[in-house]
Amino acid sequence: MSKYIIMPCGSLNGEVEISGSKNALLPILAASIMGEGESVIKNAPMLVDSHNMCSMLTHLGAKLQISEDTICIKPHNLSGDLENFAPVELLRASFLISGPLLAKIGKVNISMPGGCQIGVRPIDLHLKGLCALGADIEQQHGYIKLSCRKLKGNKIYLDFPSVGATENIMMAASMADGETIIENAATEPEISDLALYINNMGGKVTGAGTDTIKIMGVKKLKGCTHFVIPDRIEAGTFMIGAAATKGNILIKNVIPQHLKPVTSKLREIGINVDEGDTFIKICGESPINATDIKTLPYPGFPTDMQAQFSTLLSISNGTSVVTETIFENRFMHLTELKRMGANIKIDGRTSVIQGIDHLTGASVRATDLRAGAALVIAGLVADGQTEIDNIGYLDRGYYKFEEKMNKLGANITRI
Ligand code: EPZ
Repeated sequence: MSKYIIMPCGSLNGEVEISGSKNALLPILAASIMGEGESVIKNAPMLVDSHNMCSMLTHLGAKLQISEDTICIKPHNLSGDLENFAPVELLRASFLISGPLLAKIGKVNISMPGGCQIGVRPIDLHLKGLCALGADIEQQHGYIKLSCRKLKGNKIYLDFPSVGATENIMMAASMADGETIIENAATEPEISDLALYINNMGGKVTGAGTDTIKIMGVKKLKGCTHFVIPDRIEAGTFMIGAAATKGNILIKNVIPQHLKPVTSKLREIGINVDEGDTFIKICGESPINATDIKTLPYPGFPTDMQAQFSTLLSISNGTSVVTETIFENRFMHLTELKRMGANIKIDGRTSVIQGIDHLTGASVRATDLRAGAALVIAGLVADGQTEIDNIGYLDRGYYKFEEKMNKLGANITRI
């Protein structure tokens, strides 16, 4: 994988435009195959994960046209066969195709999604939900065969408010017979965006964004045009970059409401945050105080911002406690930060970060896409050069990351 060479840059200053949300786009691309006609998805970040999802839809038989940030999908004569289709292994979100395929053609044959660095990431809640809607499930040789002549609405309680399981069940239920109720559903903004798209296709989803979602199945869905919401995690990453480098950044094309847990934590540690209807302004000149972070399902503090915030706390005044409750192995970036001089003790899902005056440049490696972003921020403020390996992870989740950072004054070179 390619590398970043990062030199310390002083403060980041200027304006950055946030791209569409990867985690909203991926389920929406999956849902698009349920439409009878063409869907046009706008504000789509054309990341590695987006291309992998598109290639999966093409493999199934859909016709796609991709321009800068718009994807046109014509879902005609789909097969359900994804056996031996490599990108499924590369992209966990590929499993989100199961619900739509079951709804549209009644069968899907797909390899078990792999785990990844941050955790095992099982799909038991997805399968529990699809089974409750009537799907027959057969698992062998690392593949899953799902089939169902006609899905039937049901009441489903999620043991954990899983984002992916909520999305998969919502999509399958949108064309099932009768009503489905999902209780203890995830409430992330990306789920509300998916529900909006399904409703604009002619679906009947209510309660998205709350922990109880009702879906009345319909016989047909049509294609439609959809504008993807902004990526709240990309926005949060730039907010942290401004705070860490004591810069002033205007972050445009955001929905501030989606960033409330991050904004309130930044204000808590002394960072000045202004917000308008579609922008957030960070004035990071003030000292960074310590605080405690506990990741939780939305609207709690997002796990996808834990790594970036840990970098900030590693150069704060005082001691912070960070607890990761969502994934069982999402502290690998802390070991890399320690190579840069950070004073951190890790104990299971809790870490204690003793702020230091400054980090020092080192050779480190990204272990997942948010860890990669955290290490880039560390490189911006460290003394001396930092080299980050495995930045392919970043390409999966951040659109034109180094261009946007360098436009703000960073000094990042990709080799
Ligand atoms: C989505 O992953 C996001 N990915 C993740 O973003 C994000 O970290 C996560 O939600 C939590 O917010 C996309 O939307 C494509 P989950 P997802 O199902 O759906 C357990 C990023 O950096 N679980 O809410 O896979 C699971 O093991 C990525 O952009 C089960 O036990 O997350 C985990 O501990 C990383 N059984 C917890 O729930 C299941 O069937 C949260 O998983 C499903 C999940």
